[in-house]
Amino acid sequence: MPYASSTIFASLVLVLGYVHARHIDAYTPQSAPYQTWPGQSGYNQCGTSYNQSSECQNVYLNNVQDFCLWAPPYPGSTIGDTEQVEVAWCMQSGYGTRLIPDGTITGAHLVVTPDYVQITGVGNLTNINILNNDQGGEFDYYGAAGGGYPVGGLVFSSAFGQLQQVDTWTSFISYDLFCFRACKPSVNSSTLCQYAYSVMGCEWNMPANYSAGVFEECVGDSGQPMGVYGTSTFSQGQPTTPAPLPMPPSSSCTFYSTITNGQGVLPSGAASTRATEVPITPAFRSRPYILSV
Ligand SMILES: *[C@@H]1O[C@H](CO)[C@@H](O)[C@H](O)[C@H]1NC(C)=O
Ligand SMILES: *[C@@H]1O[C@H](CO)[C@@H](O)[C@H](O)[C@H]1NC(C)=O
Ligand SMILES: *[C@@H]1O[C@H](CO)[C@@H](O)[C@H](O)[C@H]1NC(C)=O
Ligand SMILES: *[C@@H]1O[C@H](CO)[C@@H](O)[C@H](O)[C@H]1NC(C)=O
Repeated sequence: MPYASSTIFASLVLVLGYVHARHIDAYTPQSAPYQTWPGQSGYNQCGTSYNQSSECQNVYLNNVQDFCLWAPPYPGSTIGDTEQVEVAWCMQSGYGTRLIPDGTITGAHLVVTPDYVQITGVGNLTNINILNNDQGGEFDYYGAAGGGYPVGGLVFSSAFGQLQQVDTWTSFISYDLFCFRACKPSVNSSTLCQYAYSVMGCEWNMPANYSAGVFEECVGDSGQPMGVYGTSTFSQGQPTTPAPLPMPPSSSCTFYSTITNGQGVLPSGAASTRATEVPITPAFRSRPYILSV
């Protein structure tokens, strides 16, 4: 093949490889390439330790003592301005990510349903570079162009058995509240991990327990698809916002007095040098949301 066409061919394979990556739950943390999407700021080959300057963009949603959140790689900017470049902050070492300092999370509720694993809770998320009073924003597996927000972010979970990549997920975070749902691959995953309601916040998208002082892990029923009320589907921006759907029941909870990794609260140590940024398209900037409706 002449150089030009082999280059085009190679690029095509690369692009198709990326597309493939978004639609088949194919990667393990060991098999993921260094980066999974063009323009990605961090990486997906993260090693097995932890590092408070890590730019790893793999999150895990395993259990209430072992989960990660997306948060900024550097302090001083809103979620809206960093949503493309967020990095993984985890409760446990071993994934090559940053660690969420002990004491940051003050309540966490994990539920495994037939269709998804979900964690909801509260904390002082200024410890993971979120600006005080930032009402935050939404992350999802699609983003603006298929690469997700954060771009190239991968989600893994062992909640359904063996650790696997979970391709369909949605998450919100603000300075004091978080929620993260990763959907089991099924025909229903796109409605149960719907990301169309990006300004509606955690409590509307994921009605669940957000109480402080409780660290629990439960099984539960799946919620109803967000935005769907019988035969009527709400569109974000319509004048009247319907109430959140009911919180689905959960049971068989295991309680923990706290969650910890031995990493002390390090507000300044948590800061790192500014990461290489991908250009932010103004149209996809800040998507603040309301905490309650
Ligand atoms: C931590 O991660 C940063 C960013 O990837 C890297 O430059 C640094 O060498 C890492 N430090 C250690 C001790 O691995
Ligand atoms: C959150 O943590 C920061 C840094 O540790 C601290 O200065 C601040 O007072 C805390 N905020 C609340 C509401 O506890
Ligand atoms: C998908 O959702 C429908 C309606 O809630 C339900 O009847 C069906 O069992 C679900 N299918 C799967 C594979 O989860
Ligand atoms: C949240 O969970 C805790 C522990 O199960 C329970 O005591 C509390 O009532 C729940 N809160 C709500 C709002 O359901």
